[in-house]
Amino acid sequence: MKKFNKLVIASHNKGKIAEIREMLAPFEIEFCSAAELNLPDVEETGTTFEENSRLKAITLAKASGLPCLADDSGLCVNALNGRPGVYSARYAPNRDFDKGMDLLLKEIAESGSTDRGAYFACVMSLAMPNEDCKVFEGRVEGQIAIEKSGSGGFGYDPVFIPDGYDKTFGHFSAEEKALVSHRGRAFAKLMEYLTSL
Ligand code: IMP
Repeated sequence: MKKFNKLVIASHNKGKIAEIREMLAPFEIEFCSAAELNLPDVEETGTTFEENSRLKAITLAKASGLPCLADDSGLCVNALNGRPGVYSARYAPNRDFDKGMDLLLKEIAESGSTDRGAYFACVMSLAMPNEDCKVFEGRVEGQIAIEKSGSGGFGYDPVFIPDGYDKTFGHFSAEEKALVSHRGRAFAKLMEYLTSL
């Protein structure tokens, strides 16, 4: 499957780029990150994952003249009425996710709720330089752990236990996480679309 020669990953988040690179590895597509092309970080002005994902993909596809794959994702926690959601990156003080997870656990404790349900959402957008854009959404439901555990992955992985497992994403290998994660599921839909063309 080779629908285009080169693809830009519209993200400056190293954890996300690493996961997307790994998912793209089996396909014969040359890809590079926005940083490698000196493309700017796009300000996330939208209020939904889809809005931000489209915005990043279309802006950088136009700027680079190349097809562009963007991912907007985040963690939605029941006890916090869906927060931090689209603000997941900004929720962590100075983008320090160790502090971000401490804050999340503290806020859940203070909410008085016993509901530890949460989900990760990911909207991937594939935009062409002519602004044609397709979106693919993936979700994984789970629970917020009582405490941080595991050092794998990135962001909030050490506090998220996906349904059907008794360990946090912090204990998953990259391959294992891709099989169940929001990003893995969105990516599978993208691949299904590309192979149907
Ligand atoms: P954005 O999509 O660049 O706005 O960033 C989303 C933020 O959500 C990331 O910085 C992470 O903190 C969090 N996030 C998204 N996906 C994951 C994941 O797979 N594991 C852990 N945290 C994630």
